[in-house]
Amino acid sequence: MKVLITRRVPEEAVRKLKSHFSVAHHDSSTTIARSRLLRAVRDIDGLLCLLTEKVNGELLDAAPKLKIVATATVGVDHIDLAQATKRDIPVTHTPGVLTETCADFTWALLLASARRVVEGDRFMRAGKFKGWDMLMFLGTDVYGKTLGIVGFGRIGQGVARRAKGFGMKILYYDKIRAGLDTEQELNAEFVNFDRLIQESDFITLHTVLDETTRHLIGKSEFKKMKKSAYLVNASRGPIVDEKALVATLKSGVIRGAALDVYEFEPKMVSGLSRLPNVVLAPHLSSASRETRKKMALLAAESLIDYLIFKKNPRYLANPECVSLSRPTPLRAA
Ligand code: GLV
Repeated sequence: MKVLITRRVPEEAVRKLKSHFSVAHHDSSTTIARSRLLRAVRDIDGLLCLLTEKVNGELLDAAPKLKIVATATVGVDHIDLAQATKRDIPVTHTPGVLTETCADFTWALLLASARRVVEGDRFMRAGKFKGWDMLMFLGTDVYGKTLGIVGFGRIGQGVARRAKGFGMKILYYDKIRAGLDTEQELNAEFVNFDRLIQESDFITLHTVLDETTRHLIGKSEFKKMKKSAYLVNASRGPIVDEKALVATLKSGVIRGAALDVYEFEPKMVSGLSRLPNVVLAPHLSSASRETRKKMALLAAESLIDYLIFKKNPRYLANPECVSLSRPTPLRAA
């Protein structure tokens, strides 16, 4: 059987796949061209992709032998799950292994923006530091403030757990309320969305991207926030109206922001990179050596479990696939 890896990934996952499959590998730091991708999927049984590949009806139609898609990401908004399910193709992803790494990075962004770490770094490198100044780069205290967490899944809860050490009041909003034991353990209060954005000093976003969360934060939400508020987005870019964010930061409607993701990733909307009160990272949230290795291995194991051992893989994004409850053969090749 043959699998395609669409991008460079940790070597351990490639080795693992090579011990079971014939492997085609776009071993590059740049995204595979769409036309090349559509050609490369023609004869594959399994696909290991990243969030840079759009797995839609067009791609699935180009891959008549494809039996499983394993994305080495937790988010699956780049995959048309309905189209995959329609073709009885299970889609696996990588929740769990990146939770703590992403929660850490959310805090890195939050602290960097509140305490102006990046501005300070640029200042030093420019040789502008002429001695200690009591009013230089004044930031905002984090300790004892109110943290508003939007999306209270694994990562959101990880962020809340860390907030305890900062003595913060924690508000959260999600479509589904967490259990009372979780709320008590994390000292987190379930509130409606409006109250969260009005009362929080720091707002962090951890929700999935779908049609209900696209532009969840836009002009009217920014207006409701405190003038001293900070927004941190380490989930998906389109959840924030980026153009509205630029206008908001420019006119001081809120104090600052930190972004790991972009509405038109990898592009930024005009004006964003010129703003001093925003910290910008190139989608690094899960980017630790340990975690990226675990993500890639998990995706590789999903392909092996399903295609070789005929087992249901862990972490299915579309568990409603019929073939998952069907013994072999899984799909006519
Ligand atoms: C990264 O953003 C992921 O979804 O894993």
